[in-house]
Amino acid sequence: MLTQAPKGTRDILPEDIAQWNYVEQKFSELCKKFGYKEIRIPVFEHTELFQRGVGDTTDIVQKEMYTFKDKGDRSITLRPEGTAGVVRSYIEHGMGSLPQPVKLFYQITAYRYENVQKGRYREFHQFGVELLGAADPSADVEVISMLALYFEQLGIKNLVLNLNSIGCPKCRSAYNEKLKAYLKEHLSSMCETCRERYERNPMRILDCKEEGCKLRIKDAPALLDHICDECRDHFSKVTTRLEAIGIPYNIDKGIVRGLDYYTKTVFEFVSKNIGTQGTVCGGGRYDGLVEACGGAPTPGIGFALGVERLLLEMQSQGIELPKAETPHIYIGAIGEKAALMCERLAWQLRRNNIFCVKDIMNRSVKAQMKYADKLGAHYALILGDNEIENNKAQLKDMRTGETKDISLDTLIDRLVKHRG
Ligand code: HAM
Repeated sequence: MLTQAPKGTRDILPEDIAQWNYVEQKFSELCKKFGYKEIRIPVFEHTELFQRGVGDTTDIVQKEMYTFKDKGDRSITLRPEGTAGVVRSYIEHGMGSLPQPVKLFYQITAYRYENVQKGRYREFHQFGVELLGAADPSADVEVISMLALYFEQLGIKNLVLNLNSIGCPKCRSAYNEKLKAYLKEHLSSMCETCRERYERNPMRILDCKEEGCKLRIKDAPALLDHICDECRDHFSKVTTRLEAIGIPYNIDKGIVRGLDYYTKTVFEFVSKNIGTQGTVCGGGRYDGLVEACGGAPTPGIGFALGVERLLLEMQSQGIELPKAETPHIYIGAIGEKAALMCERLAWQLRRNNIFCVKDIMNRSVKAQMKYADKLGAHYALILGDNEIENNKAQLKDMRTGETKDISLDTLIDRLVKHRG
């Protein structure tokens, strides 16, 4: 137990950090180019925020939240996603009085008590954006296009954009009646959660993962066929604009999304490569969420992308990801005088922004060269009494095996100006 991370959590080890840094940096650069500003929200919030925001009939709230009482007897929950926290922050900090829309992005960990498998963890990472204050279909297209462009920039191909509209509260209440009428005769053979949802939130039944229930839901009426004129018009503008910029999509009437706050447009980018957990990202419009959380009526739309799934997809497509940077030079020393010179040289090089590793183990020359090689250093330089006396040392190019005599006085200059 002591030496094993809890189930569903994973260390991101030093050898993998370069790829994480790469996708993180690319994402934040892209968001900034679209005018989004970074926000950092707390890892935990009051449980009620998620009950209200995500919805207390969702799988996330009913089955997957990490909820506990803190020492002050408050019910606290580790964020299962970022939207509710961002919306809480938008309200708390009066962002409604800023020029609208407010465009935010985040890179967070999230926590869900789920069955662990490839691409599904209990602690996972999300990149997300939230666009608040814009009701126009062009806002939907903006966030979808950000994802399309991000995938393009990373060299990811063949993700399918699945799109649907799940209408507004107005069309949904009429639809709920139709859905209930359809489900009535199947209800007795469905799971307990579905039976409970039948009264409280029938649409959530469409999200059930039980095989038996899935079979019965298959032919249920689709919400897209029952949305009101306003929602239909909005959806048609979204698709027309996506076509205008050449983003292909597939209409999937089956998408309901696992969170209650959605209205109108919902979407997912799905991969065929990474197995059952193929949804790399998901999002949609949530025009009622700010109000439900205590703010003024404010439209919103956003998405979140699963970073573990993104990296799995990139690996499965054979996309080369950056590796950790290796030292430009390794400087070793044998003896006290040489150690002082080694100290000075390393200090000067580091002040000049050169990636330099120096000996701190007092190892033999052979062991130091072996270590420099293991580090992948481009150059190695070992100083001893001789070198200090003659003010000269051999700089070894570890890639070619070549050595050059260089004066210690000019070493810094050479490495800084000519890098070798
Ligand atoms: P979500 O669909 O619940 O949406 O999660 C978004 C993405 O997070 C998923 O597509 C998936 O890639 C990743 N993900 C979810 N659960 C796990 C897990 N257990 N392990 C690994 N990856 C996972 C949301 O979270 C919404 N907040 C998105 C949103 C933002 N909608 C509007 N704004």
